[in-house]
Amino acid sequence: MDRYCVVGHPVEHSRSPWIHARFAQLTGEPVQYGKLPAPRDGFAATVRRFRDEGGRGCNVTVPFKFEAASLADTRSERARLAGACNTLRFDPDGVFGDNTDGAGLVRDIQAQAGVDLARRDVLLVGAGGAAAGVLGPLLHTGPARVVIANRTVDKARALADSHAALARSASVQLSATGLDAAPGAFHIVVNATASSLAGGAVPVPGSVLRPGALAYDMMYGPAAEGFLAWAREHGAVPRDGLGMLVEQAAEAFLVWRGVRPDTAPVLAELRALLA
Ligand code: ATR
Repeated sequence: MDRYCVVGHPVEHSRSPWIHARFAQLTGEPVQYGKLPAPRDGFAATVRRFRDEGGRGCNVTVPFKFEAASLADTRSERARLAGACNTLRFDPDGVFGDNTDGAGLVRDIQAQAGVDLARRDVLLVGAGGAAAGVLGPLLHTGPARVVIANRTVDKARALADSHAALARSASVQLSATGLDAAPGAFHIVVNATASSLAGGAVPVPGSVLRPGALAYDMMYGPAAEGFLAWAREHGAVPRDGLGMLVEQAAEAFLVWRGVRPDTAPVLAELRALLA
């Protein structure tokens, strides 16, 4: 068996072991996947120990995704743009770092929810690590424009600046605003803020939603409920981040094994399990 794990602080509630166990069954790949808690000041030592004991790679979750990017010897373009890694692969010549969050979001929106991003107007709410992790792959889908709205406008501007070259080459209008200043209405609104975790209300006005817009929260479970209720009240199509969770895992499985598992049955099972 080839060993993988998810490293985080905390990791007790992670669904990743369940998801990867299903992927291993479905693909026949000899993958064993566990949880590996790391102390806040011990991420690199924990990962190195796991690798020295024969581990083949790991997923990385809060709060270590930025540290994972520095630990990697080489990085994918999407990890470099995000400035963070959620997937490490231990190669004979060093540690390869990738970020599959954005690909997971895009795939869930396009392949599972059936919403095309090309030539659409997208509002990305938030400018922290979660938003940075998905912006590159979002731009690659060729939307007409992407507006980043954030409480701290300077952070939104910095995120837009770091992706300006990619936006230009993909012919996407990319801009940054405050939460109340998003211009116009959007086909797709993605919530990448932590406001619900802090018990806060949805941080943007309902006017940002076009009728029938897709309103996507990157969280799932109770943390997404407020945003999804807000979406329904305003005539939008609500979607939580459970599909993104499964899709980013499938993309990591592909990075490690060269095989992409079928995600639809796994998402359906996981939804039933959590219902
Ligand atoms: P993550 O890695 O999960 O993105 P983060 O880097 O701390 O975490 O970013 C959290 C995001 O949620 C930021 O966009 C933050 O806004 P600021 O950049 O202004 O801090 C946003 N956020 C957190 N609490 C919020 C609230 N109560 N209202 C609006 N935005 C909030």
